[in-house]
Amino acid sequence: MNKPMTDSSAAPSYVRHRRLLEWVAGVVALTKPERVVWCDGSEEENERLCSELVSAGTFLKLNEKLRPNSYLARSHPTDVARMEDRTFICSARKDDAGPTNNWMDAGEMRGTLNRLFDGCMRGRTLYVIPFSMGPIGSHIAQVGVEVSDSAYVVVNMRMMTRMGRAVIEHLGEDGTFVPCVHSVGAPLAPGQKDVAWPCNDSEKWIVHFPETREIWSFGSGYGGNALLGKKCLALRIASIMARDEGWLAEHMLILGVESPNGAKHYVSAAFPSACGKTNFAMLIPPKSFAGWKVTTVGEDIAWLKPGKDGRFYAINPEAGFFGVAPGTSEATNPNAMKTLRSNVIFTNVALTPDGDVWWEGMTETTPEKLIDWQGKDWTPDSGRLAAHANARFTVPAAQCPSMDEKWEDPAGVPISAFLFGGRRSSTVPLVVEAPSWEDGVYMAATLGSETTAAITGKVGVVRRDPMAMLAFCGYHIGDYFAHWLKVGKAVSQPPRIFRVNWFRRNAAGKFIWPGFGENMRVLQWIVERCEGSTKGAATPLGIMPRYEDISWKGLEKFTRDDYATLSEVERGAWADELHAHDELLGRLGTHLPGELEARRTRLHANLAV
Ligand code: OXD
Ligand code: MN
Repeated sequence: MNKPMTDSSAAPSYVRHRRLLEWVAGVVALTKPERVVWCDGSEEENERLCSELVSAGTFLKLNEKLRPNSYLARSHPTDVARMEDRTFICSARKDDAGPTNNWMDAGEMRGTLNRLFDGCMRGRTLYVIPFSMGPIGSHIAQVGVEVSDSAYVVVNMRMMTRMGRAVIEHLGEDGTFVPCVHSVGAPLAPGQKDVAWPCNDSEKWIVHFPETREIWSFGSGYGGNALLGKKCLALRIASIMARDEGWLAEHMLILGVESPNGAKHYVSAAFPSACGKTNFAMLIPPKSFAGWKVTTVGEDIAWLKPGKDGRFYAINPEAGFFGVAPGTSEATNPNAMKTLRSNVIFTNVALTPDGDVWWEGMTETTPEKLIDWQGKDWTPDSGRLAAHANARFTVPAAQCPSMDEKWEDPAGVPISAFLFGGRRSSTVPLVVEAPSWEDGVYMAATLGSETTAAITGKVGVVRRDPMAMLAFCGYHIGDYFAHWLKVGKAVSQPPRIFRVNWFRRNAAGKFIWPGFGENMRVLQWIVERCEGSTKGAATPLGIMPRYEDISWKGLEKFTRDDYATLSEVERGAWADELHAHDELLGRLGTHLPGELEARRTRLHANLAV
């Protein structure tokens, strides 16, 4: 078992990596923790840390009968979400970060970080957390080592990544790793009592250095700000690696679709946050689709490398789900509800009187009495949410009943199609296939989605979110588009690209599409197109299914007229839409690839009113 060590240079004997030891010693010297623990990822270590978190008041153990081996954490009210405005890409040249990232001169930022991190772990334990994004040893996987003063981070990272001694052993004496430094930024003076959720409520920084592939995060203990393998490594830093090495690191779920005749396709789909990505990744086909099966490989991130056969092969770099709880229910996502039966860390959900959890949308009837996410008594007439809108669950992916048999295959799964979707109440039709890779890249680059309260506090404003990577691309977004154009040409069988929209509303403001499970109908059309079906019609936007090209079995109430409204391309609305595309593309200057400029001109001509 891993005993706390007071000598900061002491490491278990299995650590043979000089550079790693020196780097940790440097962080220890800077941050001055009280003790250092090298995490081995064992069950015993996890149990010890969870019981320490219970004693510290960070974790509340849930009712063992109702929610075995599960905990509730309540964060500080200022520390409840990713903070895009506090996220920086400190490339050597400002131009390399591009117009969609915050940038600061690397030297100046290092000065700031040295000041912030100097002594920031006083009185705390520094945990060394070795982790692999992707199955250990997969040629697509990457190793990171996070140093953190939060035990909450350790137990979350153990679920979200492959974490512990096996990773160190895989690194050997000189393996490559991404160094990630995290502190909650709340040093303890001698004798000072700790709080349940330590964080720094005045300074928060999430910083990436692209050239040295380093991550530094200060002040927050929450989600993507603190679990550095996820958005920081698997998207921002990995997007830079992917650019340099000819692959893709994307904000995409991966799912498998098997038809009754046994043909299987994997598709990867990008949606901005809060568009039901987890629900889609765990879709259960409607009853009328007997014999069809949908399986899950991942629900947030995909890493894709070209294979020898000219196709892209994808892995899910994560090992767990850090999903949004509100809205998850037996109706919207039965597979997620089954996944959440045990071994879960809930953050910022409500507590029921019998020691279980609840969140808005979980049940049809609202409980009469709860303790809300801030630990206060709550009743339905309290006039506030019981769970925070961005309340989360952390759970091992392996517990999900729909996991694909190949979800941990180190070789990845071959991808037949890329889907790009957003939340659009008008303008964007149900599904369009791009006639070419370049058209698809244009569609993806100009993806827009209406914001929800969970993202920006504003509701219903269309935010351009290219490839759903606005907050996650670690370099100039125009160069990222150029990279997409390039990788598509580098493979002989690139995936087909589709734009989807489940969120269109009718004149009465009601969603037209009847629900998530019905997305199977669109998936069927997509995989059949991938198999060479010619069903569909050319439109100014691309190829769209006609009413008769989609199977409506079991959904007879959905009429031809409903479909017409859902797939209508209104020229006036598209004039505005293209104007909004121009605004984004106009910010790219010389970084705008010529192919996208050409598509833009053609679309303007095709859709002229
Ligand atoms: C997430 C997000 O947490 O995209 O996955 O915000
Ligand atoms: Mn995400």
